[in-house]
Amino acid sequence: MTKMLSLALFLFPGYHLGAWRLPDAVPELDLTIEHYVRAAKLAEEAKLDAIFFEDQAAVRRSNDILAGDTYGAANPRSIHFDPTMVLPALAMVTTHLGLAATSTTTFNDPYNLARRFSTLDFLSHGRAGWNLVTSFNEDEAQNFGLDAHLAHAARYARASEFVDVVTGLWESWEKGAITRDKKTGSYFDIEKMHFLQHAGEHFTVRGPLTTGRSPQVRPVIFQAGSSEPGRELAARTADVVFTLQSDIVEAKAFRDDIRARAVRFGRNPEKIKILVGMTPIVGTTDEDARELAARMMALIPDDLALSNLKPLAGGVDFREFDLNAPVPELPESNAGKSHREAIMSVSRDQNLSVIETARYFAEGSYLKMIGSPASIADTMQEWREAGACDGFLAVPTHYPTGVEDFTGLVVPELQRRGAFRTEYTGAHLRDHLGLTKYDQTPTADDGQS
Ligand SMILES: Cc1cc2nc3c(=O)[nH]c(=O)nc-3n(C[C@H](O)[C@H](O)[C@H](O)COP(=O)(O)O)c2cc1C
Repeated sequence: MTKMLSLALFLFPGYHLGAWRLPDAVPELDLTIEHYVRAAKLAEEAKLDAIFFEDQAAVRRSNDILAGDTYGAANPRSIHFDPTMVLPALAMVTTHLGLAATSTTTFNDPYNLARRFSTLDFLSHGRAGWNLVTSFNEDEAQNFGLDAHLAHAARYARASEFVDVVTGLWESWEKGAITRDKKTGSYFDIEKMHFLQHAGEHFTVRGPLTTGRSPQVRPVIFQAGSSEPGRELAARTADVVFTLQSDIVEAKAFRDDIRARAVRFGRNPEKIKILVGMTPIVGTTDEDARELAARMMALIPDDLALSNLKPLAGGVDFREFDLNAPVPELPESNAGKSHREAIMSVSRDQNLSVIETARYFAEGSYLKMIGSPASIADTMQEWREAGACDGFLAVPTHYPTGVEDFTGLVVPELQRRGAFRTEYTGAHLRDHLGLTKYDQTPTADDGQS
């Protein structure tokens, strides 16, 4: 039987570092709510599970601009809203689409974050999702009173405690606690309200939330770290894991690894979904798609492509390498681990030089699927059938046509093949993704307390 896919749209303004310059691209997406609304409606018409936004609380500072080094400095990926402010607006113009955004555990407090996503869960009637990251961009630290980023291990130690506080707060009210009983004058049942009384290494939080029990109880938790502590945290606490993969065999090994770890934490592996990031470049024919990819690639200046790698690789200046040689072994850094690995493995596996690798990542870090809707659907199904993923996080190169090509051409092709839903069957994001539900009595297969 054909396996069903989970599909989310990752709307990332300026993602492809050249595509925003196409005549039909609208780069003003980045700071225009009406464009986000339009994209969300396209995603919902396609019956996607969710729309997702990344976040970094710092512009991408590739070089020491303050010291006058402006080489490739104006990175389009720098300009975007705080996505947690965008999602409530989208909640009001959609009815089923899941609404997810990144908030870092490194520069937030758990009470604020728990309350924000709980509120979003109410505003959207059970469609909220939080992407937990520890922040790979070292520049964020300098916007929060620090000279340097917290150490990688310290970021994950904080994240691990952070997520327990957040989920504890989300569960601090029992079902039916808020009665607003006009007859008796009782607004809520104090017996059903619980103080978290958390006192840990990083946080002291009494609770409870002011928001009561939200429709999903626990908004969906996404995670995207691939390092050892990132995998452990995801296996213990995530509902969905986003991952950066370029090889089907390695992707299967990653999924198997996360699932095995989840079992070790007493969880049902079916309740943790692995979504591979992919960038669709769609044409009427495969040849058309390749021609479009080349046209977009030609719009990326080399200085931007090279400087773009610097924050991803933890501060390595790629200008200093022989641009026509393969990417050398990169030093370990305190930035995120996943991109360093990915940069080296893409160069090695695809036999790309430094400049070619830079162009590859300027086109997007995720798996590129370049072809007709049928070819792209073939690849997506192949990955799913091989157990390399549960679905995909699609990151189009530009808005609106790049988004429309995915929602209007690729998704209908998958639907025709019976590999993707044609109607929503549930109300909550947890329903769309087939995740553990907390708004009802837990079932034996949830494997989660
Ligand atoms: C699909 C996807 C989306 C991500 N979104 C963000 C983001 O919005 N903000 C961020 O700081 N990191 C983001 N990351 C990076 C990771 O979540 C993680 O912080 C980074 O990979 C470092 O973790 P690691 O050292 O465990 O790999 C994303 C990664 C992926 C694969």
